[in-house]
Amino acid sequence: MPSESIIQATASSEIEGLRRQLQETQEALLAIQGGSVDALVVPSESGEKIFTLVNADRPYRILLEEMSEGALTMTADGLILFSNQRFAETVKTPLNHVVGSSIYTWLNPENQVILKSILTIDPSEKRRKELVLLATDGKQVPIYLSVSKVSLSGPGDIYCLVTTDLTEEKKIEEIVTAKKMALAALKSSVELEKSLEESIKSIAYTVESRDEYTAGHMKRVGQLASAIARELGLPEDTVHGIDLASTIHDVGKIAIPVEILTKPGKLSKVEFMLVQTHVEAGYDIVKNIQFPWPIARMILEHHERMDGSGYPQGLKGDEILLGSRIIALSDVIEAMSTHRPYRFVVGIDAALDEIKQHRGTLYDAQAVDACLKLFAEKRFTFS
Ligand SMILES: [Fe+2]
Ligand SMILES: [Fe+2]
Repeated sequence: MPSESIIQATASSEIEGLRRQLQETQEALLAIQGGSVDALVVPSESGEKIFTLVNADRPYRILLEEMSEGALTMTADGLILFSNQRFAETVKTPLNHVVGSSIYTWLNPENQVILKSILTIDPSEKRRKELVLLATDGKQVPIYLSVSKVSLSGPGDIYCLVTTDLTEEKKIEEIVTAKKMALAALKSSVELEKSLEESIKSIAYTVESRDEYTAGHMKRVGQLASAIARELGLPEDTVHGIDLASTIHDVGKIAIPVEILTKPGKLSKVEFMLVQTHVEAGYDIVKNIQFPWPIARMILEHHERMDGSGYPQGLKGDEILLGSRIIALSDVIEAMSTHRPYRFVVGIDAALDEIKQHRGTLYDAQAVDACLKLFAEKRFTFS
């Protein structure tokens, strides 16, 4: 019979054996979970059984192949160990040529320097950068590169790279930038146009203010001329051009001595001829300014008459711009309905009679009809 001490020694040895087995099993489990083993050796009565784990990474490989980004692993020197199909497509190179080649094959010298500097960044910092890949077909592919470092005990450091193709984003960016620039250019040209209009208007008002009897005349002509233009169904942009020309149509009076402009009673023939030069003087002031409307011509023609009896060129009918004809009519109506130094106010009724009487001879027939309609039916008034 074995002694008690022998039984105790055997039991201790068995417990120790079981402890060792438990520890080995725990270590094996940790190794499997940590991914540092690709096979599991299990002892059995018939010998050791080996369970390989080579397929354990299959779901991750499928994931890498299915993703829309390029994915690859490489050594610290840039030697590509693994690449998914997407990266091979991005650089327009067969996959089996990509694996085993250098990542620097697809980078220009400047981008090679950038990648090398990314690899030296501390792993705790963000390793992301925009780069350009040079595809085998010569195309440049903008990418967003993300790099992670994996330190392995055996073969040295491995770098995992994810590349996002930015071609579409860049195209959209370019379109958005181009649109923004076009919008800014348009805005500044509109602002420039506006400030130009304002400058000319202020010159015109300065001219007008020299003569107390005609102060506000051009503004009121503008009100009537644009109302007639709208009544005739002209586009709003054309109306704006006619309005602008109307509000500065007598700007050339800056060249006429104020004594003549404000002279009570009738003007002498010479004085009248001098006043008539205001249309050419106005044309000269405005002719070199680039307006989208024929402003200078409307100023020049605002004293022309349909039958050729006007000045300065004695133009007839369609030779005179429609805008000029509308301004001419509005000018007469406004002038007759307000006070002048050489006569008392004639009044709006007499003014309307005047244009009715000379409908088609002195004044454009359609403009006259529109004007009469405005006063009769739409109760137009000067403000
Ligand atoms: Fe005039
Ligand atoms: Fe006028």
